[in-house]
Amino acid sequence: RKRIVSGVQPTGSIHLGNYLGAIKNWISLQEEFLRLGSRLSVGFDGQVEFLFAGASTEVGRQIQEDSYDTLFFIVDLHAITLPYDTQQLSRATRDTAALYLACGVDISKASVFVQSHVRAHVELMWLLSSATPIGWLNKMIQFKEKSRKAGDENVGVALLTYPVLMASDILLYQSDFVPVGEDQKQHLELTRELAERVNRLYGGRKWKKLGGRGGAIFKMSKSAPSDQSRINLLDSKDVSSHNLLFTMFCIDCNEGGELTELTGDGFLEVVIANKIKRCKTDSFPSLEFDNPDRPECNNLLAIYQLITGRTKEEVALECQDMNWGTFKIVITDALIDHLTPIQVRYGEIMSDTTYLDEVLAKGARKASDIADVTINNLYQAMGFLRR
Ligand code: TYM
Repeated sequence: RKRIVSGVQPTGSIHLGNYLGAIKNWISLQEEFLRLGSRLSVGFDGQVEFLFAGASTEVGRQIQEDSYDTLFFIVDLHAITLPYDTQQLSRATRDTAALYLACGVDISKASVFVQSHVRAHVELMWLLSSATPIGWLNKMIQFKEKSRKAGDENVGVALLTYPVLMASDILLYQSDFVPVGEDQKQHLELTRELAERVNRLYGGRKWKKLGGRGGAIFKMSKSAPSDQSRINLLDSKDVSSHNLLFTMFCIDCNEGGELTELTGDGFLEVVIANKIKRCKTDSFPSLEFDNPDRPECNNLLAIYQLITGRTKEEVALECQDMNWGTFKIVITDALIDHLTPIQVRYGEIMSDTTYLDEVLAKGARKASDIADVTINNLYQAMGFLRR
């Protein structure tokens, strides 16, 4: 069976980048696969495809097989690679899982589970670590950036070996598709090289050859550190009582302006409107895609395109005569329309966490069954004494 895997960290700030760059793409894949049904056959022999936002339809069209396993996890083990709050981890993990479901991950088709609930992730990581040249890890951009920001005291070994754990997440399930945002590209390339190296060193059961044919790469702005400069996925009516900052987007906004006085009904609308108002604009008269001098414009139009499900051409046409003022009202409304049902579903799911915990337990059992086969094969190939 073909497999799709992906994960998000439970860092307490799921933002629009995570959503549009990854989670929403999982949902389109899920639907695309279902729609394409059973007559079709494989397009990418034994290759793991890296999917980026905006690629799903194109890739979905090429999918030609009858059955897929989709595994979506919450990478809690990755979340401890920088200083974190032990009081918040389990809550953020459950919240992230609830958000997966609220965003449309369908548990009749997908296994949703917590990375640390499937022990083989860490086991495989150790085995792969022995085959990972340290130089490969030292040159990872995310490691360099994160360690520079964290300061020497806070840089644990796990921050360096983080990509090996990610490679384990992918290779454990012999994955075929890994839908992620563009920022994960280097980690996926390392996964591919590592798989080839392990194949060379130990032979045995071969890993799938990891391919590198991404779909259309859609670049979005980086997540801004300030919560005020992103739109919160749960920028909801009672966000003050949430104290979780699930954030939904990293729009490149101007800093400044406090929102503390905003509570009570209408909070979502007010927060989003305010954040959109503060988004950086430019002084060009109209709006257009793909002008290298207008990254903010491209970014916002792309977001608008993704949340409305329209084509680029449709959006270009619709917005070509708009000025920034008009467009900001239009995109604010579209975001509110898109977020409201997600928030409602999230609220329902969180009202009874027994259901969610059952979903996670079932997902972990299914994932463990697949993972155990891979790990046992590798132990054997590496020459360990059988249990
Ligand atoms: P994380 O938790 O930082 O982000 C989750 C997903 O969101 C995407 N993303 C974005 N996409 C577009 N534009 C943005 N501004 C943006 N910000 C975040 C990320 O690319 C990612 O797809 N190491 C990974 C999680 C991970 C994983 C895995 C993913 C661990 N193991 C195995 C796939 C397969 C991470 O920290 O993502």
